[in-house]
Formats: sequence, structure tokens, C-alpha cells
Amino acid sequence: MTDTLILRELLAAEPGWVSGGAIAAKLGVSRVSIWHQMEKLRAQGFSFEALPARGYRLSGRPAGLHAGLVEAQLKVRRKGFTFVVLDEVDSTNDEAARQLAAGRTAPFAVFARRQTRGRGRFGRVWHSEANGNLYSSFAFRPHIEPERMQTFTLWMGVTICELVSKFVPVTPGIKWPNDLVFGGRKAGGMLTEARVDADQIRDLVFGLGLNVNSPASAWPSDLSRRAVSLSELAGTQVDINRLTAALIGRVMLAYERFIEGEHAEDFMRLWNTYDLLRGTEVVLSEGGQKRRGSVLGIDDIGSLLLRDNEGRTRGYRAGEVTISKGA
Ligand code: BTN
Repeated sequence: MTDTLILRELLAAEPGWVSGGAIAAKLGVSRVSIWHQMEKLRAQGFSFEALPARGYRLSGRPAGLHAGLVEAQLKVRRKGFTFVVLDEVDSTNDEAARQLAAGRTAPFAVFARRQTRGRGRFGRVWHSEANGNLYSSFAFRPHIEPERMQTFTLWMGVTICELVSKFVPVTPGIKWPNDLVFGGRKAGGMLTEARVDADQIRDLVFGLGLNVNSPASAWPSDLSRRAVSLSELAGTQVDINRLTAALIGRVMLAYERFIEGEHAEDFMRLWNTYDLLRGTEVVLSEGGQKRRGSVLGIDDIGSLLLRDNEGRTRGYRAGEVTISKGA
């Protein structure tokens, strides 16, 4: 905890200096204990400049996800929210579900630097090397009716698009229902999983995989044509700790607004901003059937509205969309 507070002071002073004495006085600890904490931070990949007359200045930080750096950059500490950063886990969604089942107080989030069994929709593999990408799951206990969950992932999707657009100069978009597509290639995916009890959502896990800093060479060749990372699009490395701190703030706020039912108006406006499918010809695969049609948008429960060749419009709650060739 002291390490987070020290980091907060150093980050707030950047690019300036803070005196060891001032940090010690602010935190109510001795200068020696500050020095010890800074040695620990050095061992974790931080570097500091130190000058007797001026104090300390942050001169380098770990490139990867670091819990203290995320914590130190949280703008608002949401009541009861906690998170962990794991070096490696099978799947952050599975870990979050296990922790919920074990009774951990929600809301909380699980982040990992690497997943050994990262999953996407339809049980597909989500490539999850330790290459600077984000593997995250947020866990909640919402106690709301399952029908209200229909638009949850879509709402989270527009929330992530808003966040990314503030971070990197790209135009983000969503391919219904869970693909985050930037510059024509997939940069992220969402996987929401819920446990329903007596007609109420009991446990909810929102999983987000976001390609943040991986080079194109990180993926198998077939994937590298379809996948992209934020750093490739931005032409520079992205500060994953700052991004994660901002993500926590956005996801928690979006969740609260969703539960309070305060999101509907913004949701439709933002969906129309980021929807990549409207007006395109697609094939929707659903329950072994293929439906061809032109996308009109979504309805108020988040179903995809397709108009077929005969001019009939129908809403689909689930399925996988492929954009028709030549469209
Ligand atoms: C998809 O596009 O099919 C969804 C991909 C979701 C991947 C994320 S990575 C973090 C979380 N843990 C998982 O095993 N999956 C999700």
C-alpha cells in the first residue's frame, strides 16, 4: 500500500522532483521506510533519480502491467472495489468465476499478464501470450432479471470504444455483438458470462481481451491479417497501466449506470456512433442456420435487426455475423 502512495506522489510530481522527507511526512512514515519501499520498487523494474538537494524523480517504470501503477492512477476509488494482477492464469473469466463461487466480495477485477486457456465466444481460443496485451475480467453480483442483461455487453462495448478513442488516435467500432474492430481489424473481444439463480442474475463476469502492445508478429500468420493492436495503430507503445486504471473507472461507472437503468439514452446514441454493421450485407449464422440480409441496426433489447431479400425485418438475439464479400 505504501508503494502505491509513493508512486502516486512521484507521478503527481512528474516530471519534477519530490523530497523523501515530504513523502515521509505525508504518509506518516520514516524516511528510512520510504527508502526501503523504493528499493523494492527498483526490484520491480522502476528506476529513480535521487539528488540530496531535491529528492526523487521517477525515471523509468515497468513496461508491463503493475498493480501499484494501476492503483496509483485510479482517479476515483469505487466503494468496495478490489483487483488483482496475476502473472499467469488459465482464464481471467474462470478465475473471476472461481473467486465469486468462493465468496469474494464483488465488485472486483482479475487481470493477468498471460492466460494459458484464454477463451473467446463459441469456446474459441483467445491467444493470450505475455506480450503486453490486456486480459481482464470484472466480477459483479447484480441481482437483476436475466432479460435486462441483453444489452449489457453492447453497452460495455461502446464504453470501451469511448475509452480507446480518448487514448489513441483511431476510430474504434463494434461488430455486433462482441468484437472491437479498429481500422478494419479486430483489436479486442468481450465475453460476458452469467450464473442465473431463481430468475435472477446471481454472478456476472465481464471479460475483455484488448490487444494493447503486441507486435503483429505475435500472432499466427492467419490471425495477423485480421488482428491489430492499439500500439500498431498508434505507432507507439501504449501505457497499459494508465489504460487499465482508466478502464476500471469507465467499466465501474458504466456498470452502475446500467444497473440503475440510466444508460438507455446514451447507449443508443453511442451504439449508432460505433456500430460497424449498419447498412452492410451480412450472413448471420445462428443455431446451424444461415440468414442473409441487410443490417438496419439493433432494437431496444440489443437484437440485431436484419432485413431479408423479401423486405421482411427480424431481430436476432444471438449468432455470428460475417460481412458478405463485395459489401
Ligand atoms: C471473443 O472475441 O470471442 C471474446 C474474447 C474474450 C477474451 C477475454 S481475455 C480475458 C477474458 N478471459 C478469457 O478467457 N476470455 C476473456
